[in-house]
Amino acid sequence: MTPLLSATQTAARRTLPLALCLAAAGCSGPQSALDPAGREAETVAHLFFVMTIGGAVIWLAVIALAVYAGGFKQRTLSEETGQRLILWGGAVVPTLILAALLAYALWLMPDLRPWTREAMAEGGVKGHVTAEQYWWRVRMEGPGGPVESANELIVPVGQRVDLTLTSPDVIHSFWIPALAGKIDMIPGRTNRITLRADRPGVYRGVCAEFCGESHALMAFTVRAVPPQEHAALAAAEARPAAVTSGEGLRLFLEKGCAACHAIRGTEARGGVGPDLTHVGSRPTIAAATLPNDQASRERFLRNPDAVKPGVRMPGYDMLPPAEIETLARFLGDLK
Ligand code: CUA
Repeated sequence: MTPLLSATQTAARRTLPLALCLAAAGCSGPQSALDPAGREAETVAHLFFVMTIGGAVIWLAVIALAVYAGGFKQRTLSEETGQRLILWGGAVVPTLILAALLAYALWLMPDLRPWTREAMAEGGVKGHVTAEQYWWRVRMEGPGGPVESANELIVPVGQRVDLTLTSPDVIHSFWIPALAGKIDMIPGRTNRITLRADRPGVYRGVCAEFCGESHALMAFTVRAVPPQEHAALAAAEARPAAVTSGEGLRLFLEKGCAACHAIRGTEARGGVGPDLTHVGSRPTIAAATLPNDQASRERFLRNPDAVKPGVRMPGYDMLPPAEIETLARFLGDLK
């Protein structure tokens, strides 16, 4: 064996376990379709593994045939045998495997959107999600009417969540990989999805259709909590803002923020951007782009376009740093 070849083999032997670990680590996490926490996502993951195995079988068969064929000297195979090999190895076997996979996928399809064919039982929660460039308007039904928030979905574990989905600008796609498959959000059309989180946790949803320059920065958080906790959180969300006076609110109203954003319980009633009534209690800002801390809030207020190119919000870096700090602190206090 040449020294180069043996060195390559040693390197491969050393890095392979690391590569496999990294690949396996990619299978779990809040945004993984391979670590399902809901029934629909389970079916998707199942289909993925079956398809992967089917594809691997075809690939191995083709490689094995290529190696087998490479072992023959020219013209040692009769023309008839060669043609039979091509017919069976190249056409019949792959066609059979692909047909079996297709049949399996079609058979699985009713399970991919299990809820549409099941009796719509009472219970669970209902809501409406609008995808906008580049954030998510969330309006959940509550006992006192719909309650608006943004970029965060809080759902009760083990209960149905019926969502209607639409978009006012371009086509987006709603995807929570750990809970269900994706569904487009199309201007002028209302689509529906029913989810059910079967285990508590924090998951990540994303936009799965290219919608503009900040498409990749358009995500949201899904918090699946026990039903009692969900009821408490929904009640808290429905309450007016925790801070309804002070210097922060004065700046918010005076500097024009209220033209686009609403804070329930105050004079701020803008409907263009995200509702900020309880923005301080959200884990992230800017549609899951930045952590919700003072530094990030200040950074976003100063120059949102540097964080999310193409965002509609104008920058406020003309304000003195003290005012930016006050505004950011006020937003953080809106728990
Ligand atoms: Cu919205 Cu991509």
